[in-house]
Formats: sequence, structure tokens, C-alpha cells
Amino acid sequence: MPDLDPLETLFDASNGDEVPLPAALAEVYGSLRIPRPRARPHVIGNFVTSLDGVVELDAGVPRGGGAIAGPQPHDRMVMGLLRAMADAIVVGAGTLRATPRHLWRADRVSPGFSEAHAELRKRLHKAPEPLNVIVTSSGLLDLDAPLFRGGEVPVLVLTTLSGEQTLRRHGEPPVQVVAVTEAKRLSADTVLGAIEQIQGGGLVLTEGGPQLIGEFFARGKLDELFLTLSPQVAGRDGSTDRPGLVAGYLFAPEAPIWGRLVSVKRAGSHLFLRYGFRL
Ligand SMILES: NC(=O)c1ccc[n+]([C@@H]2O[C@H](COP(=O)([O-])OP(=O)(O)OC[C@H]3O[C@@H](n4cnc5c(N)ncnc54)[C@H](OP(=O)(O)O)[C@@H]3O)[C@@H](O)[C@H]2O)c1
Repeated sequence: MPDLDPLETLFDASNGDEVPLPAALAEVYGSLRIPRPRARPHVIGNFVTSLDGVVELDAGVPRGGGAIAGPQPHDRMVMGLLRAMADAIVVGAGTLRATPRHLWRADRVSPGFSEAHAELRKRLHKAPEPLNVIVTSSGLLDLDAPLFRGGEVPVLVLTTLSGEQTLRRHGEPPVQVVAVTEAKRLSADTVLGAIEQIQGGGLVLTEGGPQLIGEFFARGKLDELFLTLSPQVAGRDGSTDRPGLVAGYLFAPEAPIWGRLVSVKRAGSHLFLRYGFRL
């Protein structure tokens, strides 16, 4: 188990049920409350951003994690904790292309806590691993990637009719592929509806990227955002695409989206912010 100092809680207005965290996780994170289960899935997002709002140095360019957060073990610990609670983790195809060897399971980002993650999933009566859901319009995915071939996590690809044709052009894909729309893009409702139908509701975590989370914000489907604020100033000069939290959607000034601060935790100069949007 990693030797991590506890996060310092600076503010906590969370409510709901206390998550029965195993000691190893509770000692670092402290108290964690999640709203009571409802008829619909509870949808949370998890991102890290620089002080100047950059979430990726060069969008789409494969690079190891940590470019924004820096060598910060608490960010990975929180990411692992959220993954360990999730029934499904949804990401856009751009995020998979940027990390083509990744699998969305807790111990990939926070291996030191793997026993505690497994224990937490048992206590929460969750399947051993969260369903990994990839959203793609084009269907242009490398089906030889470990996510699709490894069999380590259950995988569902949600796509369009034409995306499905692309994915099936070389035969039967190794994972479940479902065409959920004839349109060019998938709505957040369609994504959540398909997840509910295939594996039930529960806690749905999205780790983005900026286009996918933009769709969730646009449809009012994001309940909460866990946002790590890294004390880095990344800069922008227009030569590369350095997206912020949302890409492809415009909210302000016509329809700004305002969050409500739920909690603030601190490790060194990193802040761990939690905002509610539908609470
Ligand atoms: N700092 C952070 O916390 C953080 C978190 C997540 C991601 N990132 C970074 O963000 C970058 C990816 O950014 P991105 O803008 O490419 O975001 P993305 O949302 O991951 O991927 C965009 C792609 O996903 C598919 N997609 C997303 N929403 C869709 C929708 N509603 N309907 C149909 N398809 C949809 C499309 O795939 P097709 O092109 O296949 O149609 C689209 O081109 C990566 O470099 C990643 O590392 C950073």
C-alpha cells in the first residue's frame, strides 16, 4: 500500500450515503458521501486541468498520463477511487486514441490500492470491473488495442449506423458493438440509455474527453464533476490544440452552466474540487 499523506479537507458540503471505504482509501481520502441511488444513473466526471484551464497539451497526441497533473500521486489515487466505485466508465474515442494501450480500471492508475479497490467493489456489490464504454461516431477504432483483445474488462462500443459498418468491415468485432443512432453524433441520453439497458444504471463515470463531456453538460446529464486543479501554467499560442474542459459546445454567455461547490481537498499545491450540477 502506498505511503500517501491524507488529503486535507478544506470544505465539505456533500450529502448522501457515506461510501464504505476500506481503511487504506479512507485514510487518504477521508469521508466520501454520494447521493442516494435514484431511478436514473448518477453521472460523475473526472478531469485534471492546469491553472490556465488546459486539459491536454496536444489533443489527440498519444502521451503518458501526468503531463497536466505532474508527478502527483493523489490525483491518481482519486481517479482510482472513482473508477473503483463506477459501474461503467465512458470515454470518447479521442481519449482512447491518445492512450491506446489503456484500460479503464482502478488499478491501472492507482495499483498500490488494488486490494482496497477490490474490497470496495465487493462492499458496494459491484461487478469485479466496470464496463468500459467507448463512444465513437466514425467507428475508426484500432480493434487490436489491448482494451478490445485483452479480455480484462467488459467493453461496449456505442456508435452510429455508419460507425458500426466501419467496425464490422473486417468481420465480427471482439467486443460488443451497438449502433444506437442513425444521426452523426450520439446524445448523452442515448449513451446513458444504452448503458442502462445493457448493464443497469448505478454510477456512471466519464473521464471525457472534452467533446464527450461537452455533450453531457449540454444535455444536463452531468451530476457532478471531480476536478483536480494542478498548479501548472501550460500556456497557449495557437500552434497546437490545447483544449479546456469542454470542446465543441458553447454555453456562455447565452446559457452558462454554473456549478455548486461540494467539496475541496488539498495535497500540497494541488486542489481536488468537487462540483455538483444537478444536485
Ligand atoms: N486532463 C484530463 O483530465 C483529460 C481527460 C480526458 C481526456 N483528456 C485528453 O483529451 C484528449 C481527447 O480530446 P477529444 O477532444 O478528442 O475528446 P474525446 O471526447 O475523448 O474524443 C472525441 C471523439 O470521441 C467521439 N465522440 C465524443 N463525443 C461523441 C458523441 N457525442 N457522439 C459520437 N462520438 C463522440 C468521436 O469519435 P470519432 O472521431 O471516432 O467519431 C470524437 O471525435 C486526449 O488527448 C486526452 O488525453 C484529458
